[in-house]
Amino acid sequence: MLQGKHILLGVTGSIAAYKAAMLCRLLRVAGAEVKVVMTPTAKEFITPVTMATLSKNPIAVEFYNPENGDWHSHIAMGEWADCYLIAPATANTLAKMAYGIADNLLLTTYLSARCQTVVAPAMDCDMFCHEATQENLAKLRERGVVILESPEGELASGLMGKGRMMEPEQIVEAIDNLFKAKQTLSGKRVMVTAGATIEAIDPVRYISNHSTGKMGYAIAEALAKRGAEVVLISGKTALQTPQGVHRVDVCSAENMYEAAVAEFEQSDCAVMCAAVADYTPVEVSATKIKKNDNSFSLELRKTKDIAFELGKVKGDRKIVGFALETDNEQSNAEEKLRKKNLDLIVLNSLRDEGAGFGCDTNKVTFIDASHREELPLLSKAEVAERIADKIEKLFF
Ligand code: CTP
Repeated sequence: MLQGKHILLGVTGSIAAYKAAMLCRLLRVAGAEVKVVMTPTAKEFITPVTMATLSKNPIAVEFYNPENGDWHSHIAMGEWADCYLIAPATANTLAKMAYGIADNLLLTTYLSARCQTVVAPAMDCDMFCHEATQENLAKLRERGVVILESPEGELASGLMGKGRMMEPEQIVEAIDNLFKAKQTLSGKRVMVTAGATIEAIDPVRYISNHSTGKMGYAIAEALAKRGAEVVLISGKTALQTPQGVHRVDVCSAENMYEAAVAEFEQSDCAVMCAAVADYTPVEVSATKIKKNDNSFSLELRKTKDIAFELGKVKGDRKIVGFALETDNEQSNAEEKLRKKNLDLIVLNSLRDEGAGFGCDTNKVTFIDASHREELPLLSKAEVAERIADKIEKLFF
């Protein structure tokens, strides 16, 4: 389960920090990518060099690099992570987390991370059993933080009792189990179309559009992480195939139509995110068209509307479509929902700042037969998660 997962490992100033080295190594052996954020005190217990070498990534401790001013974005780290594991977590850090104190990078990352946070407390037994610590743990648990068990045993103080950090092997197993439990779309096969189609005019020119494929690729990734079998039918894009996704490259609208029809037969759901050309040249010149006259016209014919064609034959299967509009946004989207027989349409307007081609953010509105839900400006990764939530609801 940990293959390709992004684990952000937070290390705080406890003597158990020496075990974070082994933990980091085990996570990597299990296939996870690991980045490490440390509190300033953690550096007294284990060196950044050790953690950087084992994680194969530079360590983040300060908000910025004092040498060159390079900013360590806690938001970017939180977004990168599929899981934020804080191990060891001291009583001090747990208390600050419970009260929203943000006086170091590890804590600001906790406040901004949207992924699952898991803590492995490590402290002396009296500190662990103190009412204050127990109250803080209860508060965090209530908020959805997973608290790993602190087993009884000999503590650094020489005392016996509860408060030891869970052993690294068991922590890795617990994280693995958490991901297993999140496989909410396991057994479902979803096809996603993404990117721009290319309609050839001659061997040199083509008709296309500004789509970069970012939104579709983010959706494919989010669905694969939830255990769905994902086939990504991709037009033109410069993006890397997400982990665990099967990619089928296509060029023209006609190619995408053929691939989509074939894939849809075996799918439970289709997400139509591609920017498909609505028109294609009637004839494609075999040789480069030379310039002669002052004007030039190209005869175009309509392409097949893939979403519409799948909508006609969908039966029990689900289809999520997109609507990119510049005006009369809501009524156009509602019309597409109905006409194409979609279960959900994701509307984005080019009038909204931060939405549209090439951005890493998007501002969308979900519209189905009975509801309309407007989301704030979010990263495309977060929008993809919300779409995956909606797809889960369509099934269950
Ligand atoms: N779509 C498709 N095949 C096409 C055109 C569009 O599958 N040939 C899908 C898109 O992937 C999207 C939805 O239909 O999910 C709406 O696409 P959009 O470009 O917004 O609308 P169109 O139907 O093309 O209508 P118009 O261009 O007139 O707005």
